[in-house]
Order: sequence, then structure tokens, then C-alpha cells
Amino acid sequence: MSFPTIRMRRLRRTEALRTMLNQVQIQPSSLIYPIFVDETITEPVSITTMPGYFRYPLDKVVDEGRAALEQGVKSILLFGVPSKKDETGSGAYAKNGVVQKAAKELKAQFKEDLVIIGDVCLCEYTNHGHCGIVDKENGDVRNDETLELLGKTAVSQVESGVDIVAPSAMMDGQVFTIREFLDDAGFEQTPILAYSAKYASAFYGPFRDAAESTPKFGNRKSYQMNQGSVSEALREIELDINEGADMIMVKPALAYLDIISYAKASFDVPIVAYNVSGEYSMVKAAALNGWIDEKSAVYEILSGIKRAGADLIITYHAKNLRAWLK
Ligand code: PBG
Repeated sequence: MSFPTIRMRRLRRTEALRTMLNQVQIQPSSLIYPIFVDETITEPVSITTMPGYFRYPLDKVVDEGRAALEQGVKSILLFGVPSKKDETGSGAYAKNGVVQKAAKELKAQFKEDLVIIGDVCLCEYTNHGHCGIVDKENGDVRNDETLELLGKTAVSQVESGVDIVAPSAMMDGQVFTIREFLDDAGFEQTPILAYSAKYASAFYGPFRDAAESTPKFGNRKSYQMNQGSVSEALREIELDINEGADMIMVKPALAYLDIISYAKASFDVPIVAYNVSGEYSMVKAAALNGWIDEKSAVYEILSGIKRAGADLIITYHAKNLRAWLK
């Protein structure tokens, strides 16, 4: 059968029909809100490359957590900007590190109402800006020496109140090591959200300004994934699940929607997509110029990421969604 018996436009005629038949629902509760906590400031500082986004001092973090909860968002992702950086990123696993302090305050305030996710990586804490220990002779990022530090970072975050740890350093064996460290410390119930398919991307630029984590030399291509890789992403995900990942992530989202959709079809774990800083800033820049309508563009983007198969989306737009839906 075909036209004129079939007319696809019959089901598009009214707003009510269109709403009824909509297959993609975006709820604030399936969004994760990233928060940058900066130890070196006393007032919120706006991030130039991410219009409308701020770094917060420690004593404003609880307010941000509350603002997220008020918008129906259940979870935040913590990134730290420490006062001191060094060769081994010791601020990442310091008992009194910036993320640790923020997590303590958030946990004391919100208990089980807010799910606190800690990004586990060294790049914000190393003076060279790489995600692991750097070999002084050849500049290589040393995999196995880095693992222990990631394990320590995860444990210290969980001791401070972090509910889920999210290793993002792209070191081989990071999920295995963190699982071991957590179990040894008695945290066998703490889930791991693995940044499994994390591509070396131009879209992280604004984040690196925000977190002051741009590598001082070289790039991240020897540990983050090559943009042209497809099967490798599935292998990374499978390995992480085998190492004990409870949820996996694909990052960035927009240029890798195919990977999200393959992941959804292949694995029965929650799939998380990271709608990264550059994706946020592109929309913002165009909206500020009056070139696109921000609300509809964001809704369309988040719908696309959902349709591709993401169960949860990490997005800098998280806090705005509920207001926009009204
Ligand atoms: C830490 C980390 C990065 C992002 C999340 N965790 C930066 C990077 O890998 O360079 C990027 C997030 C974003 O761009 O929104 N390794």
C-alpha cells in the first residue's frame, strides 16, 4: 500500500497528536549536572569560553547542589581546580583535596537525595596537564604507575562522600584497579561509571579552560581514542564491563552518536553520554548571536542523544531543562 491510501501527515496534524506519539521523553532526573569547584576563588567566576557557566568556590557548592535538586536533577559530576599542581597530581588524592572537601559538604547537606559523581583523573592536578604520570625522558604518559594514583583518588573521594566514581584518564586497567582499591577499602557497594569510549576531541577545549587542564606539551592522543575508531570503542566498553564497570560512557556525544547506538545495542548496562563543553559552547555562541533558538536547539540535541540510546546524559544544560519544559 502507498499513497493515496497511506498519508503520513495524518498523525502530524495537531499538537496533541504529536505530543501523544512522541517517543523520546527527556526528564531532568536522567541528566547529570557538572560542577567546577575552585579552591582559589571566593566568588563564582564566569568561564569565558562557556557563556553562562561558572566555577564555584567551596562555600557556594551546596547552593549549586540545591539549585540542581530544585530543577529535578538528581546527580552532579564534580571537577576540582586545586590551589597547587605538581608532577604527580597529588591534589587529586589529597585527604583535604578540593573535590574531597566539596563532596563532604554536599553529602552532609543532602545525604541520599543527591547522587555525587567524582571525576577520577589527574589532569586538573598535574603541572603538565596530562592525565597520568609523565616519563621525563620521552614525555610518555606511564600507564601502570598512574593506576595506583587513580585507585587512591577514587578511595579518597568515596571516603569524602562521593557516591559514584568516574575514571576518565583512559589508562588501561583503570577500572580493574579502582574496583580493587574500592573493595579493599570496604567500598564494594560503590558503583563505577567508566569513561570507556572517550575520544581525543576538539570539543574539550572550553572544559580545559574551565578546569585549567590543557596539556603543557603534546596532546592526549596516545591515551584517548582515535576519532576514526569504531570497533575499538566496543572493545573498550566490553573490557571495562569485564573489569567491573557498572555503567559506561561515550564521550563526546554529538560526533559519536553512532557509538552510543552501537553500545546500546551490544551491552546491557546503563549507557551514559557526555554532551561536552564544546557542544555546549557552540549552542551558546550561536544563541547569543541570535542565530538559533537556544531552548529548541538544546531540546533537539538532547532528544538526539536519547534516541541514539543514552540512558543518562551529562550536560551543562541540565539545570535549565525543567524551566524550559514549562
Ligand atoms: C578529564 C576530563 C576532561 C573532560 C572530562 N573529564 C578533559 C579532557 O579529557 O581533556 C572534558 C569534559 C568536557 O569537555 O565537557 N580528563
